[in-house]
Amino acid sequence: MDPDIDHIVEQLERHGRIGRALELPVERRKALFTRVQGYADRFLDGLAERKAYEADGYERTGADRQFVPEEHGTDLDELLEHLAERVDGPGLNPASGGHLGYIPGGGLEAAAWGDLLAAITNRYAGVFYSSPGAVRMENELVRWSGRLVGYPEGCGGCLLSGGSMANLTAIATARTAMDLKGRDLDRGVVYLTEQAHHSLHKALRLTGLGECIVRQVPMDERHRMRPDALREQALADKRAGLRPFLIIANAGSTDVGAVDPLDALADVAAGLGIWFHVDAAYGGYFLLTEHGRAVMAGIARADSLVMDPHKGLFLPYGTGVLLVKDIRHLRAANSYEAHYMQDARDRMHEPSPAELSPELSKHFRGLRLWLPLKLHGLAPFRACLEEKLWLARYFRQRVSALGYEVGPPPDLSVVHFRLGSGTAEAEIANRRIAQTIQRDGRVFISTTVLNGVFTLRFAALSFRTHREQVDVLLEQLERLAVMS
Ligand SMILES: Cc1ncc(COP(=O)(O)O)c(C=O)c1O
Repeated sequence: MDPDIDHIVEQLERHGRIGRALELPVERRKALFTRVQGYADRFLDGLAERKAYEADGYERTGADRQFVPEEHGTDLDELLEHLAERVDGPGLNPASGGHLGYIPGGGLEAAAWGDLLAAITNRYAGVFYSSPGAVRMENELVRWSGRLVGYPEGCGGCLLSGGSMANLTAIATARTAMDLKGRDLDRGVVYLTEQAHHSLHKALRLTGLGECIVRQVPMDERHRMRPDALREQALADKRAGLRPFLIIANAGSTDVGAVDPLDALADVAAGLGIWFHVDAAYGGYFLLTEHGRAVMAGIARADSLVMDPHKGLFLPYGTGVLLVKDIRHLRAANSYEAHYMQDARDRMHEPSPAELSPELSKHFRGLRLWLPLKLHGLAPFRACLEEKLWLARYFRQRVSALGYEVGPPPDLSVVHFRLGSGTAEAEIANRRIAQTIQRDGRVFISTTVLNGVFTLRFAALSFRTHREQVDVLLEQLERLAVMS
């Protein structure tokens, strides 16, 4: 039975009264916001003294009631104190210029303001009809990235949460474009190298391509895919009645920063009718530099590619760009029909992100990218990337002079190095070096295994990394080399 109307009104008043606590009175809103801003200022003002890696305090992040929502609210100062102690203390500090491990993050402040405004206004950037300005902004940023690559008009793309989601969407698009049916799976062949990022292996599994044959193509001495080996293998596979359908190349591998010979690989892909995907999550925005454009020549021939603003454009984590040379393939893989979306259909002056990506309700990511790019202009971004290329060359020469073994000149801004050459004692010494540097924490480096040998890595990408931080690392490496 329907409740009577007086009861409904009574309930509305009661719940409405409590619920209105979510809408802050203006004075209180301003007072609270000042405290949040104060926290951000203290964090940024203290950044130079903060470690890049804090090894202590992991135990303090254990089970903790403060992470669990409760019925009643908590004082903001108490929450911020908790954040400082439990979250912004222990572990890796990606905002630090001393972060020289993995692929370093950034954290431009203007991007955070963009996030704040995107969240406060909560524009819905999924469908043109809903927020034409937000969608146009995102599309212009995608087109700008496309022009940087050298893509023709008619390309398309979307802003996703990072390289992994962008790779996943690219692989799903390739599968659709190549019309690979379930019955073709165990004849389908994918080509990549040992240097492929693990997000691509995940993407293959997630898109149902885990049953395909995945060929690890041999590499040259610089960890780059060999086009001759690729062609030979793909031809042999075709002769054997298999269906080669996807080549995945690197434009800046995570391990060593290797850029595959994209032009020659594109020749193979075009000659054999295979989809050509380039993972430029790390390397892509080096296209802003002359060196980057030279080393990535041929990238415009990729059918799809991924580049991460939260790497090469120094954004806080949470933004990857997927580009597809022919937008129709992206649309074919992601478009949808739903009755509740019928109002949106009449006003489609622009492609809508929701028909070009797996997401529907999405963060308005364009604002965190647009605001810093427009506010600062491109010149300092380009200069920061140039600086990183020079820092890698500087580091490689200096570390080699200290007696470390180094690889060939880097394609981008990752350098691999180690003491000794592959003996068990050398591995112990290199492990100790990495651990000692991590415990000290002023700078942070990570390690990997190359051709079966434990190896140290240097990766410069943060806009806050300059020669000072690299010299701190070199001083430590000098001392540790003598001790080993
Ligand atoms: C070459 C490469 N591809 C893909 C990824 C995955 O990107 P994300 O961490 O943004 O998901 C990374 C991450 O470091 C990467 O270096």
